[in-house]
Amino acid sequence: MKLEEMCGFQVVDAVRLTIHVFAESLGNAIDAKDHCTRSHSEEVAVVSQAIGQQVGLSASQADILHIAGHLHDIGKIGISDAILKKSGPLTDAEYKVIKTHPQMGAEIIGPLTTLMGNDGIAKMVLHHHERYDGTGYPHGLRGTRIPLGARIIAVADSLSAMLQTRPYRPAMDFGKAADEVARCAGTQFDPRIVEAFLDIQDTIKGYIDSMRDLKVAV
Ligand SMILES: [Fe+2]
Ligand SMILES: [Fe+2]
Repeated sequence: MKLEEMCGFQVVDAVRLTIHVFAESLGNAIDAKDHCTRSHSEEVAVVSQAIGQQVGLSASQADILHIAGHLHDIGKIGISDAILKKSGPLTDAEYKVIKTHPQMGAEIIGPLTTLMGNDGIAKMVLHHHERYDGTGYPHGLRGTRIPLGARIIAVADSLSAMLQTRPYRPAMDFGKAADEVARCAGTQFDPRIVEAFLDIQDTIKGYIDSMRDLKVAV
């Protein structure tokens, strides 16, 4: 499904359109490093935008969230494939390296933030692995101290990851993944964001199914 059909993406200006296209390309580049994560950044972008609109963000704010979704894992470009694609369990040292990707991502897109003004994209990228209960990384922020966009991306990111096959587990079906998101309300995720996700889960499932159909067709 085209993004425009899913969320009514509105191009406010040519600069933002260009930034969106580049963000999408960079997201595709990071997903191409690992066949398991194909379309992951695209899914995070679209699902985050839809949840953002559901919680009352303006169309413009939701567009920015969409762009941040494409870029959320861009810092993984700086992580070696040996760690990123490792099929066995990670050592503590390897996990420590993985955990540098939000910070690296925020630094990589620094010039973009300069171009777009103080729109918060870098902060959304920096904090997308924080947890609502304060046990996430990199800063251990808790609750609403985590930027709203990062709290939304966290839900979309986990959902998309659960729906994809990984070397150590099969893909979860949508219902089970949605139940898992609901179970983590108040611990991993902001309950308000989870509620918004559950309200529009049928629409999101329709979009995810269409993405899967696309993959089978290729
Ligand atoms: Fe996009
Ligand atoms: Fe990440």
